[in-house]
Amino acid sequence: MEARRGVARDAGAEHGPGWAESVRGAGAGGMATPCREQIHQEVQDYYGKELQKSEDLKTNACVTSARPLPKAVRDALEHVHEEVVARYYGCGLVIPECLLSCRILDLGCGSGRDCYLLSQLVGEQGHVTGIDMTEGQVEVAKKHIAYHMNKFGYRKPNVEFLHGYIEKLSDAGLADESYDIVISNCVINLTPDKKAVLQEAFRVLKPGGEMYFSDVYASQRLSETIRKHRVLWGECLAGALYWRDLYSITEEVGFSPPCLVTASPITIGDKELEGIIGDCRFVSATFRLFKVPGGSRAGPGQVIYNGGIMGHERELVFDANFTFKEGEVVDVDAEMAAILQSSRFAEEFLIRAGASATAAQGNCCKRAKEKICNPFQLLEQLAAPGPACCPRGTSGPPGCC
Ligand SMILES: C[S@@+](CC[C@H](N)C(=O)[O-])C[C@H]1O[C@@H](n2cnc3c(N)ncnc32)[C@H](O)[C@@H]1O
Repeated sequence: MEARRGVARDAGAEHGPGWAESVRGAGAGGMATPCREQIHQEVQDYYGKELQKSEDLKTNACVTSARPLPKAVRDALEHVHEEVVARYYGCGLVIPECLLSCRILDLGCGSGRDCYLLSQLVGEQGHVTGIDMTEGQVEVAKKHIAYHMNKFGYRKPNVEFLHGYIEKLSDAGLADESYDIVISNCVINLTPDKKAVLQEAFRVLKPGGEMYFSDVYASQRLSETIRKHRVLWGECLAGALYWRDLYSITEEVGFSPPCLVTASPITIGDKELEGIIGDCRFVSATFRLFKVPGGSRAGPGQVIYNGGIMGHERELVFDANFTFKEGEVVDVDAEMAAILQSSRFAEEFLIRAGASATAAQGNCCKRAKEKICNPFQLLEQLAAPGPACCPRGTSGPPGCC
């Protein structure tokens, strides 16, 4: 499915007096302090005043998951208030598996659509916190707490919404190691300091915790002309990370290497903006990052999924590289072994250390199939006609797996 960030506003009105000046010299991960406030203000005006509903973006980016929505998510979505859904501006599906009783934090929750979805999936014993800097969006989210708790049949609310900056979660009172999962949907591209956001997410995650998030990525580092374009900022393009920079920033922060889950293309429906963007391409991609405790980093291994995760009993499609079928032995590399061993997935797997004889020798399939890390490469693979090469642990066409 294709995500189109068509551009609702006057494409020529790109720089205000201080705007262009302020973003000069911005690097891949951060910007000079003076421009941070301006970017925050611009984004708040855009999401608080300019946009009233998803259609104002003139985009079909919402729910762009390349995978069909699981039934539990479709059902949960039907229970979310229409005003909350109308103000949804996400670019992917940020609903991981194995959620019962989890504590979840949504960075840049907007009107709270994903929070109310997750509120149902974590159950009454779980908890969801949404935080956003745009007051108008947080107000909409808060306004409907009682409606949803009543609808879900919960005696006390399991959701809360906070007004604040995701670069400074401590200012909002969020403690170290207090969440099992952090999610975020089309937000980090809008932040001037991506590393600060990831550092804060890492801090509030419990050991073994996961960050599961969708965002917009660029095929190359963005030119200054793109980065200083107001409309492109509001539309989630000018602040997009070059996809390779996600890997270096997450490593610096201490996360395990990103697991690429899925990718959807983004096209620009405006000639003038296409001219500014040139040959740069954009993709909406979902990644999962884990806070693997130091001692859990081990070697490769073999794992068997027990089929115990609700809604994923026959197979667990973990990411673009690994699908675990119930009862099947799958060779995993050291990174995946450490993730499964240290996270909430541990009790769903039998994990044996040491690679199998075939994996150690490197059979033809293993040699042929490199792990996919590049969301643009994944897009090409998903768009390719005929049977695609399958994730590890699944059966595929001859010569593939
Ligand atoms: C594209 S919208 C997505 C909203 C929501 N995740 C959804 O799916 O509907 C981006 C949201 O991120 C929020 N945001 C951007 N930068 C932020 C920051 N630094 N701190 C807190 N919220 C931020 C904006 O206020 C806006 O509500």
